[in-house]
Amino acid sequence: MNYDYIIVGSGIAGLYTALLAEKQGSVLIITKGSIEDCNTRHAQGGIAAAISKNDSADLHFKDTIAAGGGLCDEEAVRILVTEAPDRIADLVNLGVPFDTLDGEIALTMEAAHSIPRILHAGGDATGEHIEVTLSNRVRSSKIQVLEDCLATEIVVEKGEAKGVKALDCRTGSTMEFECRFVILATGGAGQLYKFNTNSDIATGDGIALAYKAGAEIIDMEFFQFHPTALRLPGVTPFLISEAVRGEGGILRNVEGYRFMPDYTPDGDLAPRDIVARSTLYEMKKTGSDRVFIDVTHLSPRTVTTRFPHIYRFCLDHGLDVTRGLVPVAPAAHYMMGGIKTDSWGETNIAGLFACGETACTGVHGANRLASNSMLEVIVFSKRAMEKSKRGVKTKAAAAAKGTEVRHSLSQRQAPKAVPAPSLSGVQQLHWDKVGIIRDKESLTGAADTLAAWQGALPPPTDRPSYELNNLVFTGRLVTEAALLREESRGAHFRSDFPQGSSRWQRHIIFTSR
Ligand code: SIN
Repeated sequence: MNYDYIIVGSGIAGLYTALLAEKQGSVLIITKGSIEDCNTRHAQGGIAAAISKNDSADLHFKDTIAAGGGLCDEEAVRILVTEAPDRIADLVNLGVPFDTLDGEIALTMEAAHSIPRILHAGGDATGEHIEVTLSNRVRSSKIQVLEDCLATEIVVEKGEAKGVKALDCRTGSTMEFECRFVILATGGAGQLYKFNTNSDIATGDGIALAYKAGAEIIDMEFFQFHPTALRLPGVTPFLISEAVRGEGGILRNVEGYRFMPDYTPDGDLAPRDIVARSTLYEMKKTGSDRVFIDVTHLSPRTVTTRFPHIYRFCLDHGLDVTRGLVPVAPAAHYMMGGIKTDSWGETNIAGLFACGETACTGVHGANRLASNSMLEVIVFSKRAMEKSKRGVKTKAAAAAKGTEVRHSLSQRQAPKAVPAPSLSGVQQLHWDKVGIIRDKESLTGAADTLAAWQGALPPPTDRPSYELNNLVFTGRLVTEAALLREESRGAHFRSDFPQGSSRWQRHIIFTSR
């Protein structure tokens, strides 16, 4: 079968890109689950955009750059903040029901923004509303969707992407599709970690596919940990949105003490990496595996109308957040690095684009500003489709000299005894050794184990075995990049190199070529 566009993944990046691509040609979406099964659905907070009269693209630019720890691509950030209002208008036109106040789109505050600029829908169900709006549009369009179908290889000939090989997860049969353009929109890799806020689909599939096809993978050491995921025994971590602190929620330790002002003058609304690390220190200090968010001083009506989803989820687990403290702890949340693209979503392989969390456009740098990710999707997916409209297969230009260092995965010393690779083993290893605070010893042990696992894994045959392969491979990139970066910057904190270094004012790229 031959298509103009093959899109791999069906979160907001895949669906939005497909709706744009449909205007330009035939489109096939390949998705390993159902089109409702994606990370976007879990996004509570919202989308940042400078749309209020007190705000400006310049201020949004300044906040994004400040959060990014010196590694944002300024041109990409400028595009992000400038094109934001038009892309929000596109979402409104598609039918996304953003919450309003007095007839205007309502805006809330999140950490490290200088002004309330976060749009939300259904209170704290922004991702779900966007996803439902887009998937309904896709279901009633001519776009073809193959569910339960896992992409296993990008076909590249003479440096050009030509198609995709895939596995039908229900029957085990293999398929091959040809196309003019391949767009990877597979989401992140939060399943690397024992505690994460992501859906089960986030297994680094796009990273593994792209690397094996010869694409460049950049900034993998920067994995963002959200400071506040619900921590209840036997309950999968559930995001307690940063907007809860934006609306006045307070972090307290197990003794009820408000600790954030001890760590930073920005207190509860400090950048995410600082709150996550401070929370970890506080948990250690008090010998507890959790801290608490307190919203009991807010009016119950504010809590239940602004955060209906969180309120309901906690209540279903026996916790009335309007009366009691909410137990939380940090959890892996967002992969800042990914498949390197230019400001048109193009990779270094002609005809291969990447969008969303699996891509790295350079807007997040070393630490993503809250609620910039869904904005990045809509801005850069649009640009990718503009570029492909021209019909010519081009590729991203090389970056300026001196801003990047290039590596291949290293040969590693096999540890004496390694357990057999498994999903729980991968998750425990990353949580223990490649987590919020790392050092040379922990990273070296993890890198050796991951290399041994990669060597030991049999060829994949079904969805779980492909996902495990992809996680081990993506984990190697995260771990080896973290080992190389001998400094602390943004979300990457090395206890053996706790300061930033001007020597590392550059990016780490992995490539198989
Ligand atoms: C949140 O609601 O705290 C998550 C928003 C984001 O990660 O941008």
